[in-house]
This record gives sequence, C-alpha cells and structure tokens, in this order.
Amino acid sequence: SFQDQEKLDPFALVADELTLLGQRLRDMVTAEVPKLAESAEYFFKHGVEGKRFRPMVLLLMASSLTALTPDIGLSYSQKKSYEDFSEVRQRKQQRIAEITEMIHVASLLHDDVLDHADTRRGIGSLNSIMGNKLAVLAGDFLLARASVALASLQNTDVVDLLSRVLEHLVTGEIMQLTTSTKELCSMEYYMQKTFYKTASLMANSCKAIALLAEQPRDVAELAFDYGRHLGIAYQLVDDALDFIGTKASLGKPSLNDIAQGLATAPILYALEEHPQLYNLINRKFKKSGDIEAALEMVNSSKGIAKTKHLAAYHAEQAALAIAGLPPSSSQRGQLCRRALMELTQTVINRSK
Ligand code: FPP
Ligand code: MG
Ligand code: MG
Repeated sequence: SFQDQEKLDPFALVADELTLLGQRLRDMVTAEVPKLAESAEYFFKHGVEGKRFRPMVLLLMASSLTALTPDIGLSYSQKKSYEDFSEVRQRKQQRIAEITEMIHVASLLHDDVLDHADTRRGIGSLNSIMGNKLAVLAGDFLLARASVALASLQNTDVVDLLSRVLEHLVTGEIMQLTTSTKELCSMEYYMQKTFYKTASLMANSCKAIALLAEQPRDVAELAFDYGRHLGIAYQLVDDALDFIGTKASLGKPSLNDIAQGLATAPILYALEEHPQLYNLINRKFKKSGDIEAALEMVNSSKGIAKTKHLAAYHAEQAALAIAGLPPSSSQRGQLCRRALMELTQTVINRSK
C-alpha cells in the first residue's frame, strides 16, 4: 500500500525538466541594456535559483493530469500526430512553470524593496546591490517577459488565471501594509491575506496546468484546491517555525514576523487565551519587551499547536484533492500523484 512504499524524491521525478527550466529562464530574462540584464538575471544564476519548489509541484501536476498516448487502436499516423500534440501540450505546461517562477521572483524583488531587505537566498538583495530603482524596474521587466510568455500560450482562460495572481499578490501585500486593529486581530482576515500573498500563485498555476491538459472544469478545480491547500499549509508551518526555529535550524533569525510587526497565526490563536496580546499587536510589538512578552504568551498558549493543527488540516485537504482525481492509466501519472500526496506530508513535517 501507499504507506509501505519508500518515499519518492519529488525533485528526481522531474529533474530533467527542472534543468531545462533553469536554462530557459536564463534565456528568457536576457536584456539589451547591461544594467537591466545584470539585474533581471540576478536570481536566475546557478546557485541562487532557490529551491524550485513551485516548478517542481507544477511539473508533477502536469504529469499527473496528462494521459499517455493510447497504444491500442491507433494507426501509425494517428499515433504520431497524437504524440506531436502531447509534446506541444507538455511544452505549454512547462511554460506555466517558467511564468510562475518569473512572477515569484518579480514579487520578491519588489518585496525586498518594500521590506528594506539586505539579503535574499544567501546573497545581497537586488535593492541592496543595485538600488531600489533598478530593483523595481527589474521586477517590472520580469513581469513583462512573463506576460509575453503567457500570450504565447494563446489561451485566454490561462491568461485570466495568471493575471488574477498578480492582482492577488498586490492585494495581499496591501492588506498586510494597511490594516485596522480589528483586521490585524482577525484570523479570517489573516487567512485571506495568506491566500492572496502565498497560495494564489500555486492554486491558479495548478489550475492553468489542468486547463492546458484539457481536463474538465471539476478536475481543474481539484488542481486549484491542491495548490491552494498546499500553499496555505506551507505558510502556516512557516508561521509556526518563526516561533520555534532558531537561527541555526532555519538559516534565518526566528521571530522575524513579530519583529516586522506582523501578527501571524500563532499570535492570533494565542490572543484567544491572552487578551493582553491585543495591545501588543496594536502597537506592532514596537515597545521594548513586547517581543519577549508576546513569545511568552504564545508559548503558554495553544497557539503553536493550533497553527500546526490547521496546517495539517490543509495538508490533508490537499491530499484529498489528489485522491479525488479521476483514475490515471499511466504509470508515470500515478507515480507523480503519489509524489504530490507525499509532498503534503513533507510540507507539514519540515523543520526549516
Ligand atoms: C514575500 O513576503 C512576498 C510575497 C510572497 C509577495 C510580495 C508581493 C508584492 C511585493 C506585490 C508586487 C507583486 C508583483 C507580482 C511584482 P515576505 O516579506 O513575508 O517574505 P520574505 O521573508 O521572503 O521576504
Ligand atoms: Mg520580505
Ligand atoms: Mg514582505
């Protein structure tokens, strides 16, 4: 059964496609003007490409939803045209992974400007190296290149999905920037913001992959649900790790979020047991001693446990979305689905 089998390496299943993706991204971000070229390429270079988690998930989703060429009942020429068609479709799905990665990096470039961040992926942030102006414009440039790639798919439904992601990223960022105290203390508001900022990109790009696989609407919705629940689970675990991790285990200082004035899930759950947290949240933990006091209250509450519980719930919902897909007759399809299932557990069990 599923449990008895050894865990799959999800990256290994799509390793060749990921190598191709890295090369293509480097080709897609070239620019004429040297300063722009240098800035746009910055996070696509070898060694600073990031974990490639999003493209890995998307490529697994593509293989999970794409039927193999049927080898019975087709003439040679029918089979040949079917295969040509599959190749075109696979290329389009790979394009989604590339576009998603470009949108993600563009949002990070802008985010680092907004957050005055000095570092990213272990090197200097682009704003710290090239200045805010170039960092913002390089982000815009990546979005422009992503738009051209999106247009090349000639699918307006897919354009709609990915454009909505851009709207959501901006909306989520603004929701975090401008909030009333009532909103700051609302778990509902927080979850909506989390969907916009983190999960929408995975949800909508998974759905785009399904549409390009010519799957019916209900299957496309399952793909969307998988991406949404996985993204939310991922973020909730991140929120918990910010409280329980250390600089050594996370590779970044913990208590980052409250230091930035952000009340994430553990704080909002702790607030239910410690109403005194309200004032600290309201003044964004700015008074000296606030961070320590907040940590104390989180630790003496069910905040972390409830956050992990909610993450586990979303991971389970993500797995259910995969389980709900119509059966796949392809062995590779089945393998990739298993990897997507296992990822839901990997996300909640991670410690960094
Ligand atoms: C990282 O957040 C940032 C995001 C997930 C999205 C940021 C979105 C924008 C800046 C809006 C503009 C969008 C586009 C498409 C250009 P973080 O600061 O919480 O995390 P970090 O630790 O990675 O910095
Ligand atoms: Mg940031
Ligand atoms: Mg930010």
